[in-house]
Amino acid sequence: MSSITDDLHAMREHYDQTPLRRVDLNSCPFGQFSKWLEDAVKAGIYDPNACSLATVDGEGRPVSRAVLLKALENEQFVFYTNYESRKSSHLDQNPNTCMHFPWFALQRQVVVTGKVRKIEAKRAEEYFNSRPLESRLGAWASRQSEQLDSREALEKAYLEMQEKFGDSPPKPPHWGGFALIPETIEFWQGGPSRLHDRFIYNLEDNHWNIQRLNP
Ligand SMILES: Cc1cc2nc3c(=O)[nH]c(=O)nc-3n(C[C@H](O)[C@H](O)[C@H](O)COP(=O)(O)O)c2cc1C
Repeated sequence: MSSITDDLHAMREHYDQTPLRRVDLNSCPFGQFSKWLEDAVKAGIYDPNACSLATVDGEGRPVSRAVLLKALENEQFVFYTNYESRKSSHLDQNPNTCMHFPWFALQRQVVVTGKVRKIEAKRAEEYFNSRPLESRLGAWASRQSEQLDSREALEKAYLEMQEKFGDSPPKPPHWGGFALIPETIEFWQGGPSRLHDRFIYNLEDNHWNIQRLNP
């Protein structure tokens, strides 16, 4: 029987979908991103708006985790979270971050880098109130990233919040959104013979310059 390493060595996909050419690119990276997100939705990709969000701690040690992109407006990528979580404490110290959208079924990825800022509480409240009741109560029950003694303790906290707020929990003060203000946005499309197409948009003097990169 082969070892897991042999299996891993043998795992190999061929990239053969429509190539990405310079002439096909939207001059605006947000237009290009919207088009690819739409393609991901049409392709039936599970959680097409999920991305990995990377942060670093005070000693520069990176961590990444999934978050959901919940808005793309005013040229900013918005996600919501607990402002007392590990990621938020990282972002409070160092606002540089990276969002990685892994649309592997389309042989694509997008990498967005830049700095985050907290969005207005009123905007977060609008979105919070549009969420299902269970999610709103969950935001109160979970002390995200803190140690939890047991599953039962979390369920108890949820029931207590249900008791306290009923059908209309307000937005918790510790819950809100971050907007990533991009400085670079890279689009990657797999190609045959590992000759992939990569284009990076760099924001320079309020203008998005596009460069092709070696794969
Ligand atoms: C598909 C997926 C989507 C997620 N979306 C979010 C999200 O939008 N916001 C969030 O705070 N956590 C989200 N999570 C949970 C995070 O990945 C993470 O476990 C949590 O935010 C705690 O991270 P931290 O301890 O680094 O702050 C998601 C997880 C998955 C797998």
